[in-house]
Amino acid sequence: CGIVGYTGHENAKDIIIDGLKKLEYRGYDSAGIALSDNGKITVRKKAGRISNLEEAIKGEKLEGTTGIGHTRWATHGSPTDFNAHPHTSMDGNIAIVHNGIIENYMELREELSSKHGIKFVTETDSEVIAQLISVLYKGNLEDAVFEAVKKMRGAYTFGAISASEPDKMVAYRKDTPLIAGLGKDCNFIASDMTALLKYLDKIYLIENGETVVCTPDKIQILDANKKPVDRDVLKVTWSQEDAEKGGYQHFMMKEINEQPKAIRETLQRRIGKDGKIKLDGISLTREDLEKFDKISIVACGTAYHAGLVGKYAIEKMARMPVEVDVASEFRYRDPFVDEKTLFIAISQSGETLDTLMSLREAKSKGARVLSVVNVVGSSVARESDDVFYTWAGPEIAVASTKAYTTQLVCMYLLALYMGDLRGTITEDYYKQVLKELKATPKKVQRILDKAEDIEELAKNLYNRDQIFFIGRGIDSAVAYECSLKLKEVSYINSFAIAAGELKHGTIALMEPETIVIALATQDFLMEKMYSNIEEIRARRAHVIAVTKEGSQISKIKSLEVIRIPKCMDEVSPILTIVPMQLFAYYVARERGENIDKPRNLAKSVTVE
Ligand code: G6P
Repeated sequence: CGIVGYTGHENAKDIIIDGLKKLEYRGYDSAGIALSDNGKITVRKKAGRISNLEEAIKGEKLEGTTGIGHTRWATHGSPTDFNAHPHTSMDGNIAIVHNGIIENYMELREELSSKHGIKFVTETDSEVIAQLISVLYKGNLEDAVFEAVKKMRGAYTFGAISASEPDKMVAYRKDTPLIAGLGKDCNFIASDMTALLKYLDKIYLIENGETVVCTPDKIQILDANKKPVDRDVLKVTWSQEDAEKGGYQHFMMKEINEQPKAIRETLQRRIGKDGKIKLDGISLTREDLEKFDKISIVACGTAYHAGLVGKYAIEKMARMPVEVDVASEFRYRDPFVDEKTLFIAISQSGETLDTLMSLREAKSKGARVLSVVNVVGSSVARESDDVFYTWAGPEIAVASTKAYTTQLVCMYLLALYMGDLRGTITEDYYKQVLKELKATPKKVQRILDKAEDIEELAKNLYNRDQIFFIGRGIDSAVAYECSLKLKEVSYINSFAIAAGELKHGTIALMEPETIVIALATQDFLMEKMYSNIEEIRARRAHVIAVTKEGSQISKIKSLEVIRIPKCMDEVSPILTIVPMQLFAYYVARERGENIDKPRNLAKSVTVE
């Protein structure tokens, strides 16, 4: 979910709606605003996209120079007008917007009903916050917030306003992100800075357990004991243009095309004048590495898929055992993690709660935590011992593209760096891989320059019901990401499987109409891969191979082929994924889907 709040001297409505639009990628099941004006709170909310809300209030004169807004990804309660945020208290004095889950909301609901006669009007856990604050309100909003948070359990970052204090906005952070923004004669709260790029470039990062009190001329941060906190101002380096479409029809296409630049940036900052990798600020020495007996990589979705490639790279180059887990499983399998573990969390947003919780679990068991994150100052970044930033810039489309390729670059840099320290690779190999990595931006650009070929392919295949992706070795890791991309944006039932595993079950699904995209980029596995392709073709299913220019497979006349530039086997994932991102995009476009905001998904999932 996304939260925006404004307090200043302008009409708050347009500023909040504008901010919400920038946050829509965090959820878009419903949206709403609450404005405080003349001792009264006005709320407007609507199921569906923010454009529905805008349509609903078009022409209406909504006054108020302080207000809060919300875009929702539904957890408790279906995405209806009614269940949309903001929620108000029964007496109309308090309105809140909430991100997270109140775990003990049933208990609180009962207490508020039986002791205070509160009548709840929605099915949500969030309404409890408004009702609770209003029951505890004695003329000062932050005091009531302090009392209310003592009674709640779960993850709950929220913003609140009161009709009785029209120029004030109070927000509290628990587990999900919150920032306060310093404007000119106005101040903001938001769940992330993309909402505010148009208005300011100075923010405060709010920590867990802190309350922020905003008036038009002041932001005050209070700790859990109500003591003022002296926080440094963070200067934001992303610009407003970075977070806009810049002539592209969709963010996804813009971001696919930004990959050469993003990869270049991620690399350039890490290669010193001596041609060696420098891990800006991270101190990972040979002695440190000797202490670790394994590496545990944890992430979700696309970031997890980057972790799978990371396993191949680190095991090959640094010769250390690597486990990769999806974060939602990691915590609950009682993992072997201790002070001898190097724990690597990968996350674009740095706010995915599953990943954050796993990180905390690993830390509590003594692991050293390194994270690969795109958003500076995000929760995962702040709670890690070391952070290795991807320099992808803001990623707005829900389906991740440039974050993935830059995560891959970070995994290669780490693998090489560790291999070099441990002496498990030769200097020549180190130089060669680095050279190959430096060549990837141009090679990605070459693939992008031939996007029409992929568009053609998509036009032929867009109406299929299911598509399989297969691969061997590192290609099998990429197959998962290809499949996820396609299903996320086109809703085609896609499936990824290690090519060698196909014959142990899934081959039963091969029929004349079946489409299989075979990733065949690994020279040393080419013959095995060719056998797998032939096994499929023998069942008369249709195979399209993604392979390097000039490879044996690229020369087979009867086979449909997508060519990527020649490269070392190790780094091929950075190239292989690009035509498949384009494929997912064009298929979704042919099917008329909402590419940047696929149904049921949110870019940043801050619930477990
Ligand atoms: C959500 C998104 C995915 C993303 C995953 C992890 O589920 O829909 O696209 O890969 O979260 O996000 P993170 O920000 O942690 O990389």
